[in-house]
Amino acid sequence: MGTETKITGLEHYSLVDIESAALSHIRQLGENYELEELDFAVSSISFFGSRLNGKPRTKSDLDVKLQYTGSAREDDIFNALNSDENRLFFDNIPVDFYPVRTSPRGNWATHRSDWRGNWSPEVARNLILRYSNEGDILLDPMIGGGTTAIEAKILNRNIICSDINDGAIERTKECLKFDVENKSWQKVVKRDARDLGKAKDETFDR
Ligand SMILES: C[S@@+](CC[C@H](N)C(=O)[O-])C[C@H]1O[C@@H](n2cnc3c(N)ncnc32)[C@H](O)[C@@H]1O
Repeated sequence: MGTETKITGLEHYSLVDIESAALSHIRQLGENYELEELDFAVSSISFFGSRLNGKPRTKSDLDVKLQYTGSAREDDIFNALNSDENRLFFDNIPVDFYPVRTSPRGNWATHRSDWRGNWSPEVARNLILRYSNEGDILLDPMIGGGTTAIEAKILNRNIICSDINDGAIERTKECLKFDVENKSWQKVVKRDARDLGKAKDETFDR
């Protein structure tokens, strides 16, 4: 990311200023015991989303990817940093933190960006963290390159993935070949999303 890059709505700040303010906010929460229980150390922060690509809506948040090491779970950091009490604002623009735990195994290593129309891992991660809990059963009936499946596995959600395309099924099975420290399961089946009635014996939470 070049030093000239600006965040829409916050053009009068440099990225370095915003990064420092975000880091000091997190440090302060640690000193105030808000994050006391959480074992994590920030390794890097970066910005993404509509405020970075210049196409925000009036109420768009500022999306911040927070990579960290430590044993704290992504759910816990997500909930702590994005809670109403702890929320960080820059000039009335709320910050959304997306925690990504960096493990020695490199959890994100199997993501590839060459599936047509795939969405970014951060989008899938945000939706999963925001709308589901660990142990839930998720459904992605058009799994494509497997982005949702990878994120669900990392975040300890079970997932049923399907697609009409054999290539998507193979690709998703391949990208799920990595280890995690949880017991989540993934089911990958060929299925037409217009006929989910055949899935009536399965239960989805999200
Ligand atoms: C844009 S891709 C999904 C990308 C995915 N979110 C990712 O990040 O990799 C759309 C997928 O929908 C699948 N698809 C299209 N029509 C479908 C249908 N009727 N039933 C199941 N899958 C379908 C395509 O095969 C394709 O893999």
